[in-house]
Amino acid sequence: AHADPTASTRRNKGIKRHGPSYNNTAKLSSNNWTFNKTLSNLIRKNILRFLDPERDISILKGTLKPGDIIHYVFDRHSTTNISENLYRLLPTVSPMKNQHHRRCAIVGNSGILLNSSCGPEIDSHDFVIRCNLAPVEDYYRDVGWRTNLVTMNPSVVQRAFQDLVNEEWRDRFLQRLQSLSGSVLWIPAFMAKGGEERVEWALRLILLHTVDVRTAFPSLRLLHAVRGYWLTNNVHIKRPTTGLLMYTMATRFCEEIHLYGFWPFPLDPHGKPVKYHYYDTLKYEYTSSSSPHTMPLEFRTLSTLHRQGALRLHTGTCD
Ligand code: CTP
Repeated sequence: AHADPTASTRRNKGIKRHGPSYNNTAKLSSNNWTFNKTLSNLIRKNILRFLDPERDISILKGTLKPGDIIHYVFDRHSTTNISENLYRLLPTVSPMKNQHHRRCAIVGNSGILLNSSCGPEIDSHDFVIRCNLAPVEDYYRDVGWRTNLVTMNPSVVQRAFQDLVNEEWRDRFLQRLQSLSGSVLWIPAFMAKGGEERVEWALRLILLHTVDVRTAFPSLRLLHAVRGYWLTNNVHIKRPTTGLLMYTMATRFCEEIHLYGFWPFPLDPHGKPVKYHYYDTLKYEYTSSSSPHTMPLEFRTLSTLHRQGALRLHTGTCD
C-alpha cells in the first residue's frame, strides 16, 4: 500500500483470518539462526540486476523540473505535476549514497511487537528503518525509538493524522516530522492517484518549519523492478508491501538484515490474538480477492529466507 493513498483500498490486504502459512510460521526457529553471508551476497547481486536501490530510492533534482508531468505507476492514465515544493525537496544526490551498515533493523507495523520488549534490541542496530510514520513514543519499550529512514504513504496523513483537519492534528503531524531529525523520509508520491494534496501539505510543513529530514521520492521504476525480481524467484506479488520494498532495498546497504513486526496473521504462534498494527485499531477484516497486497505470501517468502539464514525474522519476545 505504499501505492495506496486512499482509505478504501486499505481495507483489502489479502489477509485471510487463517492464512495458509499460519501453522508453518510457528516453526520459525530463532535460537539456532546463523547468518548465511554467501546467500545474502548472492541475493544482493541478483537484486542489483533489477534495480539499484542507491539510485532508485529517490528521483534526483537534476532529472526533473517544476511543472513536469508524471504518470502514476499504478494509474498510468492519471498524471500529476511536479510542484515547486516537491522540486525543492528532491535530493541532489542519493540519500543512501555510499551507505553501508553491518546490521540493519526493518520494523514492520504488526501488533506482534506489543509486549515484545524488543525496543533496546531494535535500537542496537546500526541502521533502523520504520514504516509509515508509525508512532514510537508511547511504544518505545517494544519498538525502540531510533529511526534512520521512515516511509510515509500519502494515506498516512489521512489515517493517522486525521487529514490535518485542525490545528491540533497539524501540530501532531509537525511534531512527528520534527522528531525524525536527520533521518530519511521516504515518500512514495507517484504510485497511485489520490494522495497528491496530502503529500503537498506535508512538504509545505517541512519547508515552512525547516524540518530536519532528508526527503526521498522513489523512482518510477522501483516498484516494477522489485516485482520483477520477486517474480523471477517465483514469488508472485501484485504490489509489494512497504515492508518487502524496504527489505529488497536494504540488501544493498546492509550486511545482516533483521525484521521485526512482520506478522500478517490475527493469531500468534500460541493462538493469542494479534493486532493488525501495534498502534491503531485497524482490523483483520480482509479478504484476499481484490487486495493489492499478498502479505501472507510475502511472509512465507521471508520465512524461507530466515530458515536459509539470509535474513532474520524476529517474531517472539526479546527478553
Ligand atoms: N506488516 C506485517 N504484518 C502486519 C502489518 C504490517 O508483516 N500485521 C508489515 C508489512 O510488510 C507492511 C509493513 O509491516 O508493509 C508496514 O505496515 P503498514 O504500515 O501497514 O504497511 P503498508 O505496506 O502500507 O500496508 P497497508 O497500507 O496495506 O497497511
